[in-house]
Amino acid sequence: MQFVTAGESHGPCLTAIVSGVPAGLAISESQINSDLSRRQSGYGRGGRQSIESDRVSITSGIRFGRTLGTPITLQVANDDWKNWSERMAVFGDAPSDLVREVTPRPGHADLVGALKNATDDCRNVLERSSARETAARVAAAGIAREFLAEMGVEVFSYVTRIGTAALREDDPMVAAPDYKPLDIELSEVRCPDQEASEHMINMIKVARAKGESLGGEFRVVACGLVAGLGGFDSGPARLTSQLGAALFSIPAIKGVEFGMGFEAASRYGSEVHDPITQTKKHGFSRSTNNAGGLEGGMTTGLPLIVTAAMKPIPTMANPLDTVNMDTMEVESASRERSDVCAVPAAAVVAEAEVAFVLANAYLRKFGSDNMTDIKASLASYKKRVLTQSR
Ligand SMILES: Cc1cc2nc3c(=O)[nH]c(=O)nc-3n(C[C@H](O)[C@H](O)[C@H](O)COP(=O)(O)O)c2cc1C
Repeated sequence: MQFVTAGESHGPCLTAIVSGVPAGLAISESQINSDLSRRQSGYGRGGRQSIESDRVSITSGIRFGRTLGTPITLQVANDDWKNWSERMAVFGDAPSDLVREVTPRPGHADLVGALKNATDDCRNVLERSSARETAARVAAAGIAREFLAEMGVEVFSYVTRIGTAALREDDPMVAAPDYKPLDIELSEVRCPDQEASEHMINMIKVARAKGESLGGEFRVVACGLVAGLGGFDSGPARLTSQLGAALFSIPAIKGVEFGMGFEAASRYGSEVHDPITQTKKHGFSRSTNNAGGLEGGMTTGLPLIVTAAMKPIPTMANPLDTVNMDTMEVESASRERSDVCAVPAAAVVAEAEVAFVLANAYLRKFGSDNMTDIKASLASYKKRVLTQSR
């Protein structure tokens, strides 16, 4: 299953094409719309979210609510396009009063993208480097999520830190799989603890008052996985490398930890590795899950737990110095309408990326033509693995 996205932040729409989807998978439009609206939510978002009300429109690959096994096209309209139709026109000349973007924002793609592509208008870069593109990823991953649901897998995320306001968990590897998605979604910062949520919201309020921006951390959890997805035979086969690449593909993500993560580097082996257990009912398992559900680049069958760190948003109401690309004078960086903090939204995008990687791991292992054969293959594998553990 692969996807490609297209579309500028202020163009007419964002498009995603998903190919390699098995036939016979039930797709719910309302589920995709609910994920899109979760990506738009979160305390600290900017004015753009009040203009947009993201909804998916599917124009190929599905008939009567089920996939045909053909490429699926998903579109999300940009409601802001009506305000940009001249400045972002596909053909014709630029308007005579067009203001080029010549004060690149430190921390964004503006300057390096303009140098790389030999343009004197950073808008030619920022229209695509804008994280608005991630709406198309979330829509595309709606297909992967429906597939995973059929495999018995649920993917969710929650925010663990915004600036210095952190969620306190005695042992995150024990706590993570037990959070209730409803508790997470009821929080304005998508954090399951009310007190921590309030601290996080206060941090964002302070940052906003100062004209600042904030980053943070979030966790993505996948439950219901079978053991043995991914591979140990080559670097690219390792699920660890696929998940790392997928998470680092999200703008502003600067760190990824699997399971106990960096903490493992300062502990003895006996405090890190998960003792192997076996029961007739559940087969092989582990008594702890410090590895976060991955060993040797493969799923262990325990919950996959990944933590990611997001840097503060580059666009700031109180901007840093930059250099005007026309005059070479020092000036304040552009103040494109912006979020103050988008960690809750980035976590939803990360769910989407993780879902795609996991869906592909299932397809690689259990076939890819149609849901009937894939489900039969999965059932037979589960039975064989359980028998092997007796
Ligand atoms: C969901 C989400 C929303 C974002 N919103 C903004 C924003 O409003 N303003 C901004 O300057 N950067 C925003 N970013 C971050 C930039 O897209 C990112 O910093 C930029 O593309 C440069 O990439 P880099 O940080 O990976 O170097 C957002 C990122 C995500 C994941």
